[in-house]
Amino acid sequence: MSTIQPHGGQLINRFKPDKPHQHIKKEINLDATALSDLELIAIGAYSPLTGFLNQKDYQTVVHDIRLSDGTVWSLPITLPVDPDTASTLTRGEEVRLTYDGVTYGILKVGDVYTPVKQIEAERVYKTSDHNHPGVKKLFERRSVYVGGEITLVERIEKISFKEYHLDPSETRKQFTELGWSTVVGFQTRNPVHRAHEYIQKAALEIVDGLFLNPLVGETKSDDIPADVRMESYHVLLKNYYPNNRVFLAVFPAAMRYAGPREAIFHAIVRKNYGCTHFIVGRDHAGVGNYYGTYEAQEIFSQFTEEEIGIQTLFFEHSFYCNKCEGMASSKTCPHPTEEHVILSGTKVRELLRNGELPPSTFSRKEVVEILINGLNRNDENHRIGDSNEQSAQYNLAR
Ligand code: ADX
Repeated sequence: MSTIQPHGGQLINRFKPDKPHQHIKKEINLDATALSDLELIAIGAYSPLTGFLNQKDYQTVVHDIRLSDGTVWSLPITLPVDPDTASTLTRGEEVRLTYDGVTYGILKVGDVYTPVKQIEAERVYKTSDHNHPGVKKLFERRSVYVGGEITLVERIEKISFKEYHLDPSETRKQFTELGWSTVVGFQTRNPVHRAHEYIQKAALEIVDGLFLNPLVGETKSDDIPADVRMESYHVLLKNYYPNNRVFLAVFPAAMRYAGPREAIFHAIVRKNYGCTHFIVGRDHAGVGNYYGTYEAQEIFSQFTEEEIGIQTLFFEHSFYCNKCEGMASSKTCPHPTEEHVILSGTKVRELLRNGELPPSTFSRKEVVEILINGLNRNDENHRIGDSNEQSAQYNLAR
């Protein structure tokens, strides 16, 4: 097993398929985010959390980036319910947690409290602008939170890329079997472009293995859908990476777009999956212009290395430089920006949707071909404005 300690010291396991629940009458219907959080808590990805945040922990997470016992924790993992449901709940009782008529978990009701979402938005997202996709989602979710310990009684059935859904206990075992004592985690919600490849391989020079861990939970509608991205990872890994040094598995959480706060969360979760190192590059988990280019790196300086417990590897903005004739970054390249191949995500999607190829200095041609085909295919299947809902990956029609 990987030797790195999980966050808080112990890998949480709250999956108890045999726990009786048929007798429990009350139920709370989960939204897609809460459903994925439920499972991620139960399998230990969110260790040391054992449930949805109670009020005291919620307050300290929002204000101090810590649980009430002082452990660093950056995102409020909450269970929102509507006021009518909230008014029926009694502390200490058990409630079934359902989605689409299926019982996935049991909650032992703790605190029932009404958050001030304006404050949560400003503290966690650094903005209350509803154009921010994370803030929009925060306000769209129900208005009362219920905290309490959870038990997972039913795993979510995965239909897409099933073999790439691994629990932290499984990835830890895999890393040990591969003989890796150091593993760098890479979070992404994008295809792997040349800049990503550059920083991954730079990291691979100093560690034993790369854990490519794309987020495949809910993302905003204009992000590239997970199924297309998975195809692009396969072709890239097959052609350009040593197969004994890379391990691919998905991270089925919802994207929050919380920039610096989410970078801490992403790092801690990858520690739980068994990584010893974690890459934070330019504008990690950012969206639009809400965060400074390196804010997601700077936030780590508020904590000691022991408190975070996973070694962060920070990378400057990377690009292909025509004059250097290779990949470089603002740290290594002396040439003016006109020589740098830099395309925004919006520009790339626009090119791809028009069937135009971004240059191979931006993205490898095998990847571009998959993206063009995939996006055309998905445009036919998805209405514009749909979010990349989890139902795309989970077989929820039972
Ligand atoms: S994220 O929202 O999942 O963080 P993305 O998939 O774009 O976004 O990025 C994955 C990781 O690569 C993040 O750590 C990000 O900071 C880093 N990254 C993306 N593009 C660059 C780049 N051009 N230069 C340096 N780092 C980058």
